[in-house]
Amino acid sequence: MKLSLRIWRQKDRNTPGRFVTYEVDGVTPDMSFLEMLDVLNEDLTTRGEEPIAFEHDCREGICGSCGFLIDGVPHGPRRHTTVCQLHMRFFKDGDALTLEPWRARAFPIVRDLVVDRSAFDRIIQAGGYITAPTGSAPDANAILVPKEAADTAFDAAACIGCGACVASCPNAAAMLFTAAKVAHLNSLPQGQPERDERTLNMVAAMGREVFGTCSNHGECEAVCPKGIPLEFIAALNRDVIGAAFRRRREPLHVLGAPQHPAHDDACESDSAQKESST
Ligand code: SF4
Ligand code: FES
Repeated sequence: MKLSLRIWRQKDRNTPGRFVTYEVDGVTPDMSFLEMLDVLNEDLTTRGEEPIAFEHDCREGICGSCGFLIDGVPHGPRRHTTVCQLHMRFFKDGDALTLEPWRARAFPIVRDLVVDRSAFDRIIQAGGYITAPTGSAPDANAILVPKEAADTAFDAAACIGCGACVASCPNAAAMLFTAAKVAHLNSLPQGQPERDERTLNMVAAMGREVFGTCSNHGECEAVCPKGIPLEFIAALNRDVIGAAFRRRREPLHVLGAPQHPAHDDACESDSAQKESST
């Protein structure tokens, strides 16, 4: 097979980019898309040209490193398939394809097809954990996990943090990613002690990054290689409302987020009481 690839080339985030067209020959149907790019890169390197920068690690669809737009679709034309698991048998000899990086302000370009997705890491750092004593292994049945909760948590944990949901969203929202990460721990008994704080902190962290807001287009679900459903966004919205309501009675510290008016009222009345008692 021979392909014509129009690929976005950009040296770094401060240098303007442009599309460059390359012809790739000798592509076989059992190559993955990344292996096809490896062939192109070997050719470019042999000719003394800069190879195409693209991200990858596992090449098994589980690490979330890879991903770019193929003809405008994150991870390309196959549903529930990462670009590393996309095989050339799904393309035809003579196809002309356009490859470009995720387009989102929150994901600045590093080089060519590579973007900086550390905004996702900062959302995880805000609450994607549980507090538990470490040391010797606990008994397996110390905290029983209902089957339904385990299934929900497992489905949410399937998110590999690739960023396709952001790249496909007309608002570049990170709701599907954040919803999956919150639901993973909020579904489990072990995640309950920090449930409200986690929900509010992770949503606040999402708000601090330059992601857009969700307007229910559903593009994220359509392109997600792991089939994360929109239901997790609905669950996140319910969790946020519940957490905010409980916070009226017991204010939580939300990192960097504006405090709820009830919290401000409570603080003001605390200060007034302190002043009147001195
Ligand atoms: S929700 Fe899906 S598309 Fe978004 S980061 Fe997770 S795996 Fe990727
Ligand atoms: S390289 Fe790991 S998911 Fe594609």
